[in-house]
Amino acid sequence: MDNATNTTHIKKPPLDNTLMSSFDRLIINANLATFATDYGFDIYASNKDQSTPYGQLHNAAIGIKGNKIAWIGSNDTMSTYLSSYHKEQIYNAENAWITPGLIDCHTHLVYAGNRSNEFEARLQGASYQEIAEQGGGILSTVNATREASIDELFAQSEKRLLALMTEGVTSIEIKSGYGLDLDSERKMLTVARQLGEKHPIHVSTSYLAAHALPPEYKGRANDYIEQVCAWLPILHNEGLVDAVDGFCENIGFSSAQIKRIFEVARSLGLPVKLHSEQLSNIGASELVTEFQGLSSDHLEHLSEDDIKKMAASNTVAVLLPGAFYTLRDTTLPPIDTLRQHQVPMAISTDCNPGTSPMTSLLLVMNMGCTLFYLTAEEVLAGTTIYAAQALGLPQKGKIAVGYDADLVIWDIMRPADLAYQIGLNPIKRILSQGQWC
Ligand code: NIG
Ligand code: FE
Repeated sequence: MDNATNTTHIKKPPLDNTLMSSFDRLIINANLATFATDYGFDIYASNKDQSTPYGQLHNAAIGIKGNKIAWIGSNDTMSTYLSSYHKEQIYNAENAWITPGLIDCHTHLVYAGNRSNEFEARLQGASYQEIAEQGGGILSTVNATREASIDELFAQSEKRLLALMTEGVTSIEIKSGYGLDLDSERKMLTVARQLGEKHPIHVSTSYLAAHALPPEYKGRANDYIEQVCAWLPILHNEGLVDAVDGFCENIGFSSAQIKRIFEVARSLGLPVKLHSEQLSNIGASELVTEFQGLSSDHLEHLSEDDIKKMAASNTVAVLLPGAFYTLRDTTLPPIDTLRQHQVPMAISTDCNPGTSPMTSLLLVMNMGCTLFYLTAEEVLAGTTIYAAQALGLPQKGKIAVGYDADLVIWDIMRPADLAYQIGLNPIKRILSQGQWC
């Protein structure tokens, strides 16, 4: 789309002089990829208007009050009020593009150590499953994470967080799952919270103690699941858990075992999500939909029946092209069928030391297009509006009045540049919760 698109379809809000002079900050001369139409009307509803991809607005201005977007409209309207503001309150975007802050909705960012030895073994022909069966894989990261002090774990994880933030990520999900005992799971979730306190980024945590069977429970998976169920209320009471996840797979846990944990989650009012259908289909997504889960993630082996159920329960399909790429997977998730049934699709780094050692959401957007045949608009929606839905964050992921003022200003010609360019970081500026970073 070029800048000739006009803005006449926008409903004009009644102008209120007091409001127009009361913003803390203004952004002027901007092109917006809002993923909304004006004032909260969602173009990504079933009647999406194809004539405004990305929900774009040109020659626009934004008024920000505190940590919220308080006004969006035409630059001309805003120009009348500029004299009420100090120079430092006004950011002139000089026709740059602005998107919602990016959201990375599935990560294992907090861990210790690395697994480049397994990368080398896979280059020699070993498979991910074989390495896991021989005690490597997730369990090798469990050993390193259990041994690390909280400060070491923080320092190692912070580097990855900063790399993601440098590319415009203003919200992130971080899972536990490399502790697999109460204290170590607590340590991981505490580090995730500390990262969110120290840096201008929103952190949503997920409890993933059902990620792998720890060696001390070998042959006693059901006993371990009972422990996982018992730890959840404890960690939840400590304010460490925002959602509950699991690894439902033939090398992970069965859907009956995960169901036990989901029942506890439900009794605590916690939303659920699942690593589903990555290597096989043992009923993971179906289980997520029974619990009206936020998201079902990976999905290479998803069936059409599952997809219909996901559509009915409004569960987001989280696609993880980094893991597909790293494992040299050849089974694509059923993107066309997900589209046909209008299942919302998000994409994410899956940042983890085994299947996706990556800290670039822009690269994932490129992979989403090139490997998964998503459109440039779908991958940007998948890292904004639908990633917000996958985390149950209804105040994020769009540029609309009342939404959080998480915005990224990009030095690009068109929104598609974000998915097209590989290895260039076209950031101009990042606003997180109403504050410049
Ligand atoms: O999302 N599949 C399970 N969990 C991670 C991989 C974890 C690991 O290998 O350390 C994933 O792919
Ligand atoms: Fe994962």
